[in-house]
Amino acid sequence: MGVPQPILDPLTPAAIFLVATIDEGGEGVVRDLLADLPGLRRSVGFRVPGSGLACITSIGSAAWDRLFAGPKPAQLHEFPGYAGAKHQAPATPGDLLFHIRAENQDTCFELAMKIAERLAGAATIVDQTVGFRYFEQRDLLGFVDGTENPEGALGVTAAFVGDEDPGFAGGSYVVVQKYLHDLNAWKALTTTEQEQIIGRTKVDDFELEDKPANSHVAVNDQDVSGSIVRANMPFGSVMDGEFGTYYIAYADSPEVTDAMLVRMFLGSADAEYDRILDFSTAVTGTSFFAPATEFFEELPPAPAAHNSAETDGAAIGATDGAVAGATDGAVSGDGSLGIGTLRQR
Ligand code: HEM
Repeated sequence: MGVPQPILDPLTPAAIFLVATIDEGGEGVVRDLLADLPGLRRSVGFRVPGSGLACITSIGSAAWDRLFAGPKPAQLHEFPGYAGAKHQAPATPGDLLFHIRAENQDTCFELAMKIAERLAGAATIVDQTVGFRYFEQRDLLGFVDGTENPEGALGVTAAFVGDEDPGFAGGSYVVVQKYLHDLNAWKALTTTEQEQIIGRTKVDDFELEDKPANSHVAVNDQDVSGSIVRANMPFGSVMDGEFGTYYIAYADSPEVTDAMLVRMFLGSADAEYDRILDFSTAVTGTSFFAPATEFFEELPPAPAAHNSAETDGAAIGATDGAVAGATDGAVSGDGSLGIGTLRQR
Protein backbone atom coordinates (compact mmCIF):
# COMPACT_ATOMS: atom_id res chain seq x y z
CA MET A 1 0.00 0.00 0.00
CA GLY A 2 1.22 3.52 -0.78
CA VAL A 3 1.54 6.05 2.02
CA PRO A 4 -1.94 7.56 2.41
CA GLN A 5 -2.58 11.28 2.66
CA PRO A 6 -3.23 12.36 6.30
CA ILE A 7 -6.89 11.37 6.23
CA LEU A 8 -6.84 9.65 9.61
CA ASP A 9 -5.33 12.61 11.46
CA PRO A 10 -7.55 13.80 14.33
CA LEU A 11 -10.04 16.57 13.65
CA THR A 12 -8.51 20.05 13.89
CA PRO A 13 -10.09 23.28 15.16
CA ALA A 14 -9.83 24.87 11.69
CA ALA A 15 -10.40 23.75 8.11
CA ILE A 16 -10.97 25.18 4.65
CA PHE A 17 -12.61 23.15 1.91
CA LEU A 18 -11.95 24.33 -1.64
CA VAL A 19 -13.73 22.79 -4.63
CA ALA A 20 -12.55 23.87 -8.07
CA THR A 21 -13.42 23.12 -11.67
CA ILE A 22 -10.64 23.06 -14.27
CA ASP A 23 -11.03 25.66 -17.01
CA GLU A 24 -10.69 24.76 -20.66
CA GLY A 25 -6.97 24.34 -21.32
CA GLY A 26 -6.04 24.66 -17.63
CA GLU A 27 -4.90 21.06 -17.28
CA GLY A 28 -1.16 21.78 -17.51
CA VAL A 29 -1.24 24.42 -14.77
CA VAL A 30 -3.26 22.10 -12.55
CA ARG A 31 -0.77 19.28 -13.06
CA ASP A 32 2.06 21.61 -12.06
CA LEU A 33 0.20 22.61 -8.91
CA LEU A 34 -0.53 19.00 -7.97
CA ALA A 35 3.18 18.20 -8.27
CA ASP A 36 4.17 21.24 -6.20
CA LEU A 37 1.50 21.00 -3.50
CA PRO A 38 3.43 18.85 -1.01
CA GLY A 39 6.24 21.43 -1.08
CA LEU A 40 3.82 24.36 -0.79
CA ARG A 41 2.24 22.73 2.25
CA ARG A 42 5.64 22.27 3.86
CA SER A 43 6.62 25.90 3.17
CA VAL A 44 3.50 27.28 4.81
CA GLY A 45 3.25 24.74 7.64
CA PHE A 46 6.90 24.73 8.71
CA ARG A 47 6.78 28.44 9.49
CA VAL A 48 4.14 27.79 12.16
CA PRO A 49 5.42 25.06 14.47
CA GLY A 50 2.58 23.02 15.88
CA SER A 51 0.12 24.15 13.22
CA GLY A 52 -0.37 20.59 12.02
CA LEU A 53 -1.14 21.98 8.58
CA ALA A 54 -2.35 19.24 6.24
CA CYS A 55 -3.90 19.29 2.80
CA ILE A 56 -5.66 16.26 1.40
CA THR A 57 -5.94 16.68 -2.36
CA SER A 58 -8.54 14.79 -4.36
CA ILE A 59 -9.45 14.57 -8.02
CA GLY A 60 -12.85 13.99 -9.67
CA SER A 61 -13.62 11.40 -12.33
CA ALA A 62 -13.87 13.63 -15.40
CA ALA A 63 -10.85 15.65 -14.28
CA TRP A 64 -8.85 12.45 -13.97
CA ASP A 65 -9.40 11.74 -17.67
CA ARG A 66 -8.34 15.28 -18.58
CA LEU A 67 -5.21 15.24 -16.40
CA PHE A 68 -3.79 11.74 -16.66
CA ALA A 69 -3.21 8.98 -19.17
CA GLY A 70 -3.16 5.36 -18.03
CA PRO A 71 -5.06 3.59 -15.30
CA LYS A 72 -7.75 5.24 -13.21
CA PRO A 73 -9.04 4.23 -9.76
CA ALA A 74 -11.40 1.35 -10.51
CA GLN A 75 -14.50 2.79 -8.88
CA LEU A 76 -14.05 6.51 -9.51
CA HIS A 77 -17.23 8.04 -10.89
CA GLU A 78 -19.27 11.22 -10.59
CA PHE A 79 -21.57 11.73 -7.61
CA PRO A 80 -24.93 10.43 -8.83
CA GLY A 81 -27.30 12.63 -6.82
CA TYR A 82 -30.32 11.12 -5.05
CA ALA A 83 -33.98 11.98 -5.52
CA GLY A 84 -36.09 10.69 -2.67
CA ALA A 85 -39.84 11.09 -2.37
CA LYS A 86 -39.34 13.95 0.10
CA HIS A 87 -35.67 14.97 0.11
CA GLN A 88 -33.04 15.39 -2.60
CA ALA A 89 -29.24 15.27 -2.69
CA PRO A 90 -28.08 17.24 -5.73
CA ALA A 91 -24.93 16.49 -7.71
CA THR A 92 -22.83 19.62 -8.21
CA PRO A 93 -19.64 20.35 -10.20
CA GLY A 94 -16.13 19.80 -8.89
CA ASP A 95 -12.86 18.58 -10.42
CA LEU A 96 -10.50 19.18 -7.51
CA LEU A 97 -10.99 19.14 -3.75
CA PHE A 98 -8.50 20.65 -1.33
CA HIS A 99 -9.27 19.65 2.26
CA ILE A 100 -7.01 21.97 4.23
CA ARG A 101 -6.84 21.57 7.99
CA ALA A 102 -4.75 22.93 10.84
CA GLU A 103 -4.76 24.05 14.44
CA ASN A 104 -5.32 27.64 13.31
CA GLN A 105 -7.23 29.38 10.59
CA ASP A 106 -4.40 31.67 9.43
CA THR A 107 -2.31 28.71 8.34
CA CYS A 108 -5.24 27.19 6.45
CA PHE A 109 -5.97 30.51 4.79
CA GLU A 110 -2.36 31.07 3.75
CA LEU A 111 -2.25 27.72 1.96
CA ALA A 112 -5.69 28.34 0.40
CA MET A 113 -4.39 31.67 -0.95
CA LYS A 114 -1.32 30.00 -2.43
CA ILE A 115 -3.48 27.35 -4.09
CA ALA A 116 -5.85 29.99 -5.48
CA GLU A 117 -2.90 32.03 -6.84
CA ARG A 118 -1.56 28.99 -8.64
CA LEU A 119 -4.99 28.10 -10.06
CA ALA A 120 -5.76 31.61 -11.32
CA GLY A 121 -6.70 31.49 -15.00
CA ALA A 122 -6.57 27.69 -15.06
CA ALA A 123 -9.36 26.67 -12.69
CA THR A 124 -12.36 28.25 -11.02
CA ILE A 125 -13.00 27.85 -7.33
CA VAL A 126 -16.70 27.02 -7.18
CA ASP A 127 -16.94 26.61 -3.42
CA GLN A 128 -14.95 27.76 -0.41
CA THR A 129 -16.20 26.64 2.98
CA VAL A 130 -14.48 27.74 6.16
CA GLY A 131 -15.04 25.13 8.83
CA PHE A 132 -14.51 25.55 12.55
CA ARG A 133 -14.60 23.44 15.68
CA TYR A 134 -17.74 24.16 17.69
CA PHE A 135 -17.28 23.34 21.38
CA GLU A 136 -16.75 19.57 21.97
CA GLN A 137 -16.63 18.68 18.26
CA ARG A 138 -20.36 19.42 18.01
CA ASP A 139 -22.27 20.25 14.85
CA LEU A 140 -24.48 23.33 14.84
CA LEU A 141 -27.43 21.12 15.76
CA GLY A 142 -25.62 20.81 19.11
CA PHE A 143 -24.68 17.11 18.87
CA VAL A 144 -21.16 15.69 19.02
CA ASP A 145 -20.24 14.67 15.46
CA GLY A 146 -17.58 12.08 14.64
CA THR A 147 -17.74 9.76 17.67
CA GLU A 148 -18.27 6.50 15.83
CA ASN A 149 -15.48 6.98 13.31
CA PRO A 150 -13.48 3.74 13.04
CA GLU A 151 -10.17 4.05 14.92
CA GLY A 152 -6.66 2.62 14.42
CA ALA A 153 -6.45 -0.40 12.12
CA LEU A 154 -10.22 -0.25 11.59
CA GLY A 155 -9.82 3.29 10.26
CA VAL A 156 -7.14 2.13 7.83
CA THR A 157 -9.37 -0.66 6.51
CA ALA A 158 -12.38 1.63 6.24
CA ALA A 159 -10.64 4.54 4.53
CA PHE A 160 -8.06 3.10 2.17
CA VAL A 161 -8.08 1.06 -1.01
CA GLY A 162 -6.18 -2.21 -0.54
CA ASP A 163 -5.10 -5.08 -2.76
CA GLU A 164 -8.35 -5.02 -4.73
CA ASP A 165 -6.91 -2.16 -6.81
CA PRO A 166 -3.13 -2.44 -6.28
CA GLY A 167 -2.19 0.53 -8.46
CA PHE A 168 -4.24 2.79 -6.18
CA ALA A 169 -3.73 1.10 -2.81
CA GLY A 170 -3.51 3.70 -0.05
CA GLY A 171 -5.88 6.02 -1.90
CA SER A 172 -9.38 6.85 -0.73
CA TYR A 173 -12.77 7.66 -2.25
CA VAL A 174 -14.21 10.96 -1.01
CA VAL A 175 -17.73 12.37 -0.96
CA VAL A 176 -18.52 15.94 0.11
CA GLN A 177 -21.91 17.53 0.67
CA LYS A 178 -22.84 20.87 2.16
CA TYR A 179 -25.90 20.72 4.38
CA LEU A 180 -27.82 23.78 5.58
CA HIS A 181 -29.79 23.46 8.81
CA ASP A 182 -33.16 25.00 9.61
CA LEU A 183 -32.06 25.99 13.09
CA ASN A 184 -35.32 27.73 13.97
CA ALA A 185 -37.29 24.54 13.36
CA TRP A 186 -34.62 22.49 15.14
CA LYS A 187 -34.58 24.72 18.20
CA ALA A 188 -38.37 24.53 18.41
CA LEU A 189 -37.99 20.83 19.28
CA THR A 190 -37.38 19.56 22.80
CA THR A 191 -34.00 17.97 23.52
CA THR A 192 -35.72 14.59 23.77
CA GLU A 193 -37.23 15.04 20.30
CA GLN A 194 -33.83 16.03 18.89
CA GLU A 195 -32.22 12.98 20.49
CA GLN A 196 -34.82 10.72 18.85
CA ILE A 197 -33.87 12.22 15.46
CA ILE A 198 -30.12 11.82 15.91
CA GLY A 199 -30.23 8.57 17.91
CA ARG A 200 -27.80 9.71 20.62
CA THR A 201 -28.04 11.74 23.82
CA LYS A 202 -27.22 15.41 23.35
CA VAL A 203 -25.12 16.41 26.35
CA ASP A 204 -23.00 13.30 26.89
CA ASP A 205 -23.23 11.69 23.43
CA PHE A 206 -24.35 8.13 24.27
CA GLU A 207 -26.13 6.03 21.67
CA LEU A 208 -29.81 5.48 22.50
CA GLU A 209 -30.64 1.84 23.07
CA ASP A 210 -34.15 2.13 21.67
CA LYS A 211 -33.59 4.69 18.94
CA PRO A 212 -36.17 5.05 16.15
CA ALA A 213 -35.41 3.24 12.86
CA ASN A 214 -35.44 6.58 11.03
CA SER A 215 -32.97 8.25 13.41
CA HIS A 216 -29.71 9.38 11.75
CA VAL A 217 -27.58 6.85 13.63
CA ALA A 218 -29.92 3.92 12.91
CA VAL A 219 -30.11 4.77 9.19
CA ASN A 220 -26.30 5.02 9.00
CA ASP A 221 -25.60 1.83 10.94
CA GLN A 222 -22.06 0.95 9.85
CA ASP A 223 -22.74 -2.74 10.42
CA VAL A 224 -25.26 -2.47 7.59
CA SER A 225 -23.57 -0.19 5.03
CA GLY A 226 -19.88 -0.52 5.95
CA SER A 227 -17.58 1.98 7.62
CA ILE A 228 -16.44 5.44 6.59
CA VAL A 229 -14.08 8.03 8.08
CA ARG A 230 -15.85 11.38 8.47
CA ALA A 231 -14.22 14.77 9.06
CA ASN A 232 -17.38 16.92 9.13
CA MET A 233 -17.03 20.57 10.14
CA PRO A 234 -19.58 23.23 11.07
CA PHE A 235 -19.66 26.41 9.00
CA GLY A 236 -21.94 29.40 8.83
CA SER A 237 -22.74 33.05 8.38
CA VAL A 238 -24.85 34.88 10.93
CA MET A 239 -25.36 37.68 8.41
CA ASP A 240 -26.91 35.30 5.88
CA GLY A 241 -28.65 33.16 8.48
CA GLU A 242 -26.66 30.20 7.12
CA PHE A 243 -25.82 27.39 9.53
CA GLY A 244 -24.38 24.22 8.12
CA THR A 245 -22.43 21.00 8.29
CA TYR A 246 -19.76 20.32 5.68
CA TYR A 247 -20.03 16.56 5.33
CA ILE A 248 -16.86 14.85 4.12
CA ALA A 249 -16.30 11.12 4.22
CA TYR A 250 -13.42 8.93 3.07
CA ALA A 251 -13.87 5.24 2.25
CA ASP A 252 -12.16 2.33 0.53
CA SER A 253 -15.05 2.22 -1.93
CA PRO A 254 -17.69 4.74 -3.04
CA GLU A 255 -20.25 1.97 -2.54
CA VAL A 256 -20.22 2.48 1.24
CA THR A 257 -21.27 6.12 1.13
CA ASP A 258 -23.65 5.31 -1.70
CA ALA A 259 -25.38 2.70 0.48
CA MET A 260 -25.74 5.27 3.26
CA LEU A 261 -27.10 7.97 0.98
CA VAL A 262 -29.58 5.54 -0.55
CA ARG A 263 -30.87 4.72 2.93
CA MET A 264 -30.92 8.39 3.96
CA PHE A 265 -32.68 9.80 0.88
CA LEU A 266 -34.41 6.91 -0.91
CA GLY A 267 -35.22 4.92 2.20
CA SER A 268 -35.12 1.24 3.16
CA ALA A 269 -37.49 -1.41 4.46
CA ASP A 270 -36.91 0.02 7.96
CA ALA A 271 -37.29 3.75 7.36
CA GLU A 272 -38.78 5.96 4.65
CA TYR A 273 -35.87 8.42 5.00
CA ASP A 274 -33.41 9.83 7.57
CA ARG A 275 -35.28 12.23 9.90
CA ILE A 276 -32.27 14.57 10.03
CA LEU A 277 -33.25 15.57 6.47
CA ASP A 278 -36.40 17.29 7.74
CA PHE A 279 -34.01 19.84 9.29
CA SER A 280 -30.91 19.71 7.06
CA THR A 281 -30.89 20.27 3.30
CA ALA A 282 -28.09 19.07 1.02
CA VAL A 283 -27.08 21.87 -1.37
CA THR A 284 -23.96 20.34 -2.94
CA GLY A 285 -22.68 16.83 -3.65
CA THR A 286 -19.44 15.80 -5.37
CA SER A 287 -17.21 12.71 -5.49
CA PHE A 288 -13.42 12.52 -5.74
CA PHE A 289 -10.44 10.21 -5.25
CA ALA A 290 -7.56 11.06 -2.88
CA PRO A 291 -4.50 9.19 -4.22
CA ALA A 292 -1.67 8.03 -1.97
CA THR A 293 1.17 10.53 -1.44
CA GLU A 294 3.57 8.88 -3.95
CA PHE A 295 1.14 9.74 -6.71
CA PHE A 296 2.02 13.44 -6.40
CA GLU A 297 5.76 12.75 -6.39
CA GLU A 298 5.56 11.29 -9.88
CA LEU A 299 2.33 12.11 -11.66
CA PRO A 300 1.20 9.80 -14.48
CA PRO A 301 1.82 11.26 -17.94
CA ALA A 302 -0.71 13.68 -19.37
CA PRO A 303 -3.17 12.29 -21.92
CA ALA A 304 -1.87 12.57 -25.49
CA ALA A 305 -4.79 14.64 -26.70
CA HIS A 306 -7.54 16.10 -24.67
CA ASN A 307 -10.96 16.41 -26.18
CA SER A 308 -12.45 18.77 -23.66
CA ALA A 309 -15.94 18.94 -25.13
CA GLU A 310 -16.29 15.17 -24.80
CA THR A 311 -14.93 15.03 -21.30
CA ASP A 312 -16.95 17.92 -19.99
CA GLY A 313 -20.13 16.34 -21.31
CA ALA A 314 -19.34 13.13 -19.49
CA ALA A 315 -18.42 14.99 -16.32
CA ILE A 316 -21.53 16.89 -15.53
CA GLY A 317 -23.85 15.08 -17.88
CA ALA A 318 -27.19 16.09 -19.21
CA THR A 319 -30.01 16.48 -16.76
CA ASP A 320 -32.68 13.81 -16.91
CA GLY A 321 -35.48 16.13 -15.97
CA ALA A 322 -35.15 15.40 -12.27
CA VAL A 323 -33.22 18.61 -11.79
CA ALA A 324 -33.76 21.90 -13.59
CA GLY A 325 -31.01 22.81 -16.04
CA ALA A 326 -29.42 25.79 -14.29
CA THR A 327 -26.01 26.59 -15.73
CA ASP A 328 -24.76 29.61 -13.85
CA GLY A 329 -23.93 27.87 -10.61
CA ALA A 330 -26.78 29.56 -8.77
CA VAL A 331 -28.62 27.41 -6.28
CA SER A 332 -32.17 26.88 -7.44
CA GLY A 333 -35.26 26.61 -5.27
CA ASP A 334 -34.76 22.92 -4.54
CA GLY A 335 -31.23 23.56 -3.27
CA SER A 336 -29.75 22.03 -6.40
CA LEU A 337 -27.21 23.58 -8.74
CA GLY A 338 -29.17 21.86 -11.48
CA ILE A 339 -26.27 19.78 -12.64
CA GLY A 340 -26.19 16.06 -13.19
CA THR A 341 -28.79 13.43 -12.57
CA LEU A 342 -30.43 12.28 -9.40
CA ARG A 343 -30.54 8.62 -8.51
CA GLN A 344 -34.04 7.33 -7.83
CA ARG A 345 -35.42 4.05 -6.56
C1 HEM B 1 -26.55 17.34 8.12
C2 HEM B 1 -25.50 16.57 7.95
C3 HEM B 1 -25.05 15.63 9.01
C4 HEM B 1 -24.96 15.84 10.36
C5 HEM B 1 -25.27 17.12 11.13
C6 HEM B 1 -24.53 14.60 10.94
C7 HEM B 1 -24.34 14.42 12.29
C8 HEM B 1 -24.05 13.20 12.88
C9 HEM B 1 -24.00 12.95 14.30
C10 HEM B 1 -24.27 14.00 15.37
C11 HEM B 1 -23.69 11.65 14.48
C12 HEM B 1 -23.54 10.91 15.82
C13 HEM B 1 -22.15 10.88 16.36
C14 HEM B 1 -21.14 10.19 15.50
O1 HEM B 1 -20.96 8.98 15.54
O2 HEM B 1 -20.52 10.90 14.71
C15 HEM B 1 -23.53 11.07 13.17
C16 HEM B 1 -23.20 9.76 12.95
C17 HEM B 1 -23.01 9.23 11.71
N1 HEM B 1 -23.24 9.84 10.51
FE1 HEM B 1 -23.83 11.74 10.22
N2 HEM B 1 -24.32 13.68 9.96
C18 HEM B 1 -24.65 14.26 8.75
C19 HEM B 1 -24.62 13.68 7.51
C20 HEM B 1 -24.24 12.38 7.28
C21 HEM B 1 -24.19 11.77 5.98
C22 HEM B 1 -24.57 12.45 4.67
C23 HEM B 1 -23.74 10.49 6.18
C24 HEM B 1 -23.49 9.38 5.18
C25 HEM B 1 -23.69 9.46 3.89
C26 HEM B 1 -23.51 10.32 7.59
C27 HEM B 1 -23.01 9.18 8.17
C28 HEM B 1 -22.91 8.97 9.52
C29 HEM B 1 -22.41 7.74 10.11
C30 HEM B 1 -21.89 6.53 9.36
C31 HEM B 1 -22.49 7.90 11.48
C32 HEM B 1 -22.09 6.88 12.55
C33 HEM B 1 -23.22 5.92 12.78
C34 HEM B 1 -22.84 4.88 13.83
O3 HEM B 1 -22.11 3.95 13.47
O4 HEM B 1 -23.24 5.03 14.97
N3 HEM B 1 -23.83 11.48 8.22
N4 HEM B 1 -23.76 12.02 12.22
